[in-house]
Amino acid sequence: MLELSHVTWVLPEGGTIIDDLSLVIPKGKLSVVTGPNGGGKTTLAKLLAGLIHPTSGRIYFDGRDITDLNITERANLGISYGFQTPVRFKGMTVKGLLDTAAGHTLSFDELCELTGKVGLCTLDYIDRDVDASLSGGEIKRVEIASILARGTDVSIFDEPEAGIDMWSFNGLVDVFKALKEEGKTMMVISHQQRLLDIADEIIVISAGQLRDQGPRDQVLPGLLAGEIAGHCPLGRR
Ligand SMILES: Nc1ncnc2c1ncn2[C@@H]1O[C@H](COP(=O)(O)OP(=O)(O)OP(=O)(O)O)[C@@H](O)[C@H]1O
Ligand SMILES: [Mg+2]
Repeated sequence: MLELSHVTWVLPEGGTIIDDLSLVIPKGKLSVVTGPNGGGKTTLAKLLAGLIHPTSGRIYFDGRDITDLNITERANLGISYGFQTPVRFKGMTVKGLLDTAAGHTLSFDELCELTGKVGLCTLDYIDRDVDASLSGGEIKRVEIASILARGTDVSIFDEPEAGIDMWSFNGLVDVFKALKEEGKTMMVISHQQRLLDIADEIIVISAGQLRDQGPRDQVLPGLLAGEIAGHCPLGRR
């Protein structure tokens, strides 16, 4: 279980992006975080992954205070994070990245299984560099495969659907369903109803605050009715 307790994150130049946020990402469940653009979802993910440090408040993992641990220390505890816009690594091949993520040299069969899950043909991709030559959808798939290779108990995905074509999207939904069945804890940031539809828990973030959280059947109807809107102090959006 991941928990935020009264977490606030303020920009160095001022401006509160996350505003006294308290919430729980339950263990062994698929929590989908959604809400308007600019609401603070990616910032929340970065706070949980240890990429940024709260201005105030604490973060707990299975009861342990991890607020002062960095991304590597949190990764070692079993928390993986996939960027909204994946990082490209010059001079590293897809196989190299997946081997590094898995922590051992993957066999051809293991590589096939991993790349197959994200809809990439192993033979076409394992020797490609993870650089600018990969398309937006390809790099996103490679990154999802690297999170699967890591096999950690907790995985945070930031808009995994971004750039994934609609023909491959069902495969991605199946990947999350399978992880759910394995009892993994997942926090998936998404605007996609097909991912909201398989969520155990839905968390709505807007203007850096928790607008709603609860079981899918409780939260989804309000979302679909368009009750969550962005907030502008001037009254415009
Ligand atoms: N380092 C930063 N400097 C300035 N503003 C920032 C910084 N990081 C985040 N923000 C601002 O904080 C707000 C929340 O950003 P965040 O990326 O968390 O939103 P989001 O909910 O993930 O949005 P989206 O759905 O578009 O991905 C945005 O207004 C963004 O511009
Ligand atoms: Mg974002």
